[in-house]
Amino acid sequence: MFQLLDGKFLSQQIKSEIKSAVDEWIASGKPVPNLIAVMVGENAASQTYVASKAKNCEAVGMRSSVKIFPENISEKELLQQIHLLNNDDDVDGFIVQLPLPKHINEKRIIEAIAPEKDVDGFHPINLGKMMIGEDGFVPATPMGIMEMLKRYNIETSGKHSVVLGRSNIVGTPISILLSRNALVGNCTVTLCHSATKNIKALCLQADIIVAAVGKKHFLTADMVKNGAVIIDVGINRILGEKKIYGDVDFENVAPKSSYITPVPGGVGLMTISCLMLNTLKSAKKRR
Ligand code: GUN
Repeated sequence: MFQLLDGKFLSQQIKSEIKSAVDEWIASGKPVPNLIAVMVGENAASQTYVASKAKNCEAVGMRSSVKIFPENISEKELLQQIHLLNNDDDVDGFIVQLPLPKHINEKRIIEAIAPEKDVDGFHPINLGKMMIGEDGFVPATPMGIMEMLKRYNIETSGKHSVVLGRSNIVGTPISILLSRNALVGNCTVTLCHSATKNIKALCLQADIIVAAVGKKHFLTADMVKNGAVIIDVGINRILGEKKIYGDVDFENVAPKSSYITPVPGGVGLMTISCLMLNTLKSAKKRR
């Protein structure tokens, strides 16, 4: 029988820990931690995500607001807005919601964010620090996955992890985190992507599979060995449907797994909690 990796339960637990820490922080006379989300245009998925960030921040006693700019804002103007946030002493951290419209160079925007306010952990300085095990900001989704493994006491040392997808936000960073010499880590990692030839054979060898490809039900039961730990990062929407689908065919994969994350109610909720953990960390460092 498999066990659900319950993102709802864990994120509540983390949020209550953050709330206590924030209460203590404020009681000691410090300013309420402040997270800003920057959004360009009106991407529906982004709006949902950003609204949820604001709501969650409120619940743990932090400040959060959204700065929405029109779809046609120029790159130069957006850069100016980022400089304002970098220099605003009242802002502990901010994120720029991706994807950005095509006329804006995402890389240039991310690199303009002050690394010490980059609570998304997307800046090359923070990614570099993660790579060599220095303290910085780790991207919230991979961080959430590591928290799940830790809090469910899942043994990772010496295990073979297969990561599906090499995005800068999830696949690449989680592959580094899992391979690091750390309490949760010490995995042998195989990073699969669109040019990988024998994905099924590789997955069948995996003790842990992280699916982050962005394709509904990409990972099927015939690709999974008995007792594997399955982490589903997918949030796939089908045109005209309200339901969201993971990258894992949960119904058929779950019975073969030892632990598995549901979608929704799995990794997604961990992301927001970890973003708030990063914001609190930033506040404590800055003030
Ligand atoms: N788009 C999808 N996920 C994320 C995220 O974690 N942060 C930002 N800024 N944009 C995203």
